[in-house]
Amino acid sequence: MHNDAAPAPKGLFGRAIGALTNSLRAQLLAWVVLTLIGAICINLYLSFRSADATADLVTDRTLLASARVIAEATHVDSSGTVQIDIPPAALEMFDTGYGDRVFYQVVTAWGSLIAGYPDLPHPKREQVGEDTIFRTDGMRVIMLNHPVVGLDQDGTVSVVVAVTHNSQHAMRRELWLSDFSKQLVLVLLAGLVTIIGLQRGLAPVLRLRDAVRERGRQRLDPLNPNMVQNELRPLVHALNDHMERVQNQMAAQRRFVSNAAHQLRTPLALISTQASVAARETDNGRRDEALSALRSSTWQVTRLASQLLTLSRAEPGSRRPRNDTIDLADTARQVLENLAEEALRRNIDLGLEADDTSVRIGGDGTMLREMLVNLVDNALRYTQPGGRVTVGVGRKGDTALLWVEDNGPGIPEAERPQVFERFYRIIGTEPEGSGLGLAIVREVVDGAGGSVTLGDATGGGLLVSVRLPAV
Ligand SMILES: Nc1ncnc2c1ncn2[C@@H]1O[C@H](COP(=O)(O)OP(=O)(O)OP(=O)(O)O)[C@@H](O)[C@H]1O
Ligand SMILES: [Mg+2]
Repeated sequence: MHNDAAPAPKGLFGRAIGALTNSLRAQLLAWVVLTLIGAICINLYLSFRSADATADLVTDRTLLASARVIAEATHVDSSGTVQIDIPPAALEMFDTGYGDRVFYQVVTAWGSLIAGYPDLPHPKREQVGEDTIFRTDGMRVIMLNHPVVGLDQDGTVSVVVAVTHNSQHAMRRELWLSDFSKQLVLVLLAGLVTIIGLQRGLAPVLRLRDAVRERGRQRLDPLNPNMVQNELRPLVHALNDHMERVQNQMAAQRRFVSNAAHQLRTPLALISTQASVAARETDNGRRDEALSALRSSTWQVTRLASQLLTLSRAEPGSRRPRNDTIDLADTARQVLENLAEEALRRNIDLGLEADDTSVRIGGDGTMLREMLVNLVDNALRYTQPGGRVTVGVGRKGDTALLWVEDNGPGIPEAERPQVFERFYRIIGTEPEGSGLGLAIVREVVDGAGGSVTLGDATGGGLLVSVRLPAV
């Protein structure tokens, strides 16, 4: 079986790439896996962002609650001084077991420190949490402005509370892990289902492959299109069409071989009889007669064999395609020179009509010459003695024209399509001939990308017109 796959490159990486480019399953799997990896990466990032935002929010709320408790513990005593008794709950709410340290500061609006750390940095905006650095430690900090009754000037204090990141980061990690693991399970589940779906979807294709592979050389009956999905049915139909063509071709080939064998058997049997007769004959005259019949039968077999050979060479794919450029008028002149003796023997006026313009065509020179020989041979053979055969060469635009005209009996219109068939001969024509000449002409013309038609010549007889692409 012919294998169209590219040769496997060497090395592990090369082999992996080879498998990927050649295998449908590997390609689909690669797409699914790459998509999953992409989805997991995006998921990783998004759940991190979401866990980070949640942990910030929770920390900010706790900081704000703490700041509020501290603010509410601030009051002005009877002597007019600002007092603050920080309740333990205000700081205990950060005691979550992660060893966080809490710092606070209470200052009046005009900047005098009431309690806490004087150098604690203030966030830019009120009640909005911010990351900051305090004494080399990263922290989350919040600020709350709170009115205090009895405080002179604008009557508010600013409470700043900061906490180290331990608990916040731990929360972020836990939230992220739980969120990510849930999504990961979902993505993996989706991937698994996709892979199973892929396997199931590909199964009919693999069954089709096995069905084709298991068939013997002779089995060409159509495959059942229902064995694959709708989208693949055109492929099965195309395969079936192809097999039908192969089947027809094989049948034609068988018919051809059997016809050829029959055609050979008749003259060979005749040769055998004529040889026996000649051997037995004592009378010289009659022996000469038998020998002459023997020669004619031998000629017929030889002719058949050489026509068969030419036909097989004219068939597509039997010879390496050649692209000679030949001058049609020159070729016609050579062919006519070779057949001039035959024309003379039959007393036929054989002529060429060609002007000086060169008509060049491309293709297999030997085969194109063979085509012309067969056409002129037919015209000479089927035209009565004293007749006229003219070969013409011309050009019309991009088309080279070649015609062979005679004033013989012609071919009735009803028979014209058939005469191109192999071994087809018109009943009543002279016995010599194998019926392959026009089949050769058709093969050669088709091979050169041209066309051939049969028509009536002006003076009665046959007009064969060949059109070929000129170069
Ligand atoms: N110029 C012609 N005039 C009349 N009949 C023709 C002419 N050319 C072909 N035919 C008819 O067409 C038939 C088929 O021709 P074809 O050349 O294929 O075979 P053939 O001449 O019988 O055998 P061969 O293979 O030896 O050429 C011939 O038997 C003949 O009856
Ligand atoms: Mg012929």
